[in-house]
Amino acid sequence: MTLPSRVKLVDVGPRDGLQNEKQAVPAAVKIELVHRLQAAGLKEIEVTSFVSPKWVPQMADNAEVMAGIQRRSDVRYSVLTPNLQGFQSAVNSKPDEIVVFAAASEAFSQKNINCSIEESIQRFAPVVEAARAAGIYVRGAMSCVVGCPYEGDVAPVQVSRLAQLMKSIGVQHVGVADTIGVGTPLKIQAAMEATLKHYDLNDVSGHFHDTYGQALSNTLASLQMGVWQFDTSVAGLGGCPYAKGATGNVATEDVVYMLHGMGIDTGIDLDKLVDAGAYISDFLQRKSGSRVATAILNKRLV
Ligand code: HMG
Ligand code: MG
Repeated sequence: MTLPSRVKLVDVGPRDGLQNEKQAVPAAVKIELVHRLQAAGLKEIEVTSFVSPKWVPQMADNAEVMAGIQRRSDVRYSVLTPNLQGFQSAVNSKPDEIVVFAAASEAFSQKNINCSIEESIQRFAPVVEAARAAGIYVRGAMSCVVGCPYEGDVAPVQVSRLAQLMKSIGVQHVGVADTIGVGTPLKIQAAMEATLKHYDLNDVSGHFHDTYGQALSNTLASLQMGVWQFDTSVAGLGGCPYAKGATGNVATEDVVYMLHGMGIDTGIDLDKLVDAGAYISDFLQRKSGSRVATAILNKRLV
């Protein structure tokens, strides 16, 4: 077992975290959250999505948020783009990376992006081509890799097929996403293995929602395979509007605490990260979804 000595975390809180919020979150708050995340040492931040505002109203301020960020040259900013229309809007905001997102389950593909898996790939192909021609890095998110809210269990062969399709259109990196957080370590390892048939270890990341409390275990199971890139969400914010009941991604604070405790470097200052999480939790008037943040905040009080 060789564990990586360094891990890269992408904080997806501003996008995956906030997309599901019913209450309006002003662009200024989203911008401040991004600023606090970068101040805490995050080098990759998924800022927003250029999707239909009818489907996801919370992300309608995408261009305003992107324009308001004081960018740092050592931080990469990514945005989701479901189609060419979204990509063309996104380009004006100069993202470092775009994310196309498909599902390993047919039913989720229909509910989330209103088309079949095959159609989604056909839709992404010109987006990927345009992005790469413009020098923008392309990541692919593969949803529902172990379970789907509409279909139930998802087999590794479905993940392998999707990874192959992503590869065939030139997607450079793929995220293995447990959208509804039902995965357990061996199932996640099987989904990773299916992906690694088509992608190099350095081009694969884990994206684990924590609905059933398995996300840290799934992170560790992935680390044991050498996976060293993960999407996490500050304060454990989030969920997907088309995956009812699914809670947020594993909290960035919890993953950082685990990694640092294992002697694995992240470049992140945990105290500043806890402050960033407290900022957004206070705004939302909600307790942080991070156990680590809660413990650290309690300790600060004594
Ligand atoms: P559609 O209705 O089939 O699209 O939606 P359409 O092409 O038929 O267009 C219908 C209308 O939408 C038109 O406007 C278009 O202009 C507009 P109208 O003429 O009716 O006024 N439209 C757009 N507007 C703004 N930006 C766009 C855009 N495209 C069309 N890009 C579509 C198809 C894909 C657009 C829609 O289903 C959609 O936006 N879905 C996004 C759903 C979403 O954002 N889900 C959450 C993100 S995925 C996720 O969270 C999972 C992930 O975290 C990984 C994991 O955990 O699994 C990534
Ligand atoms: Mg997600």
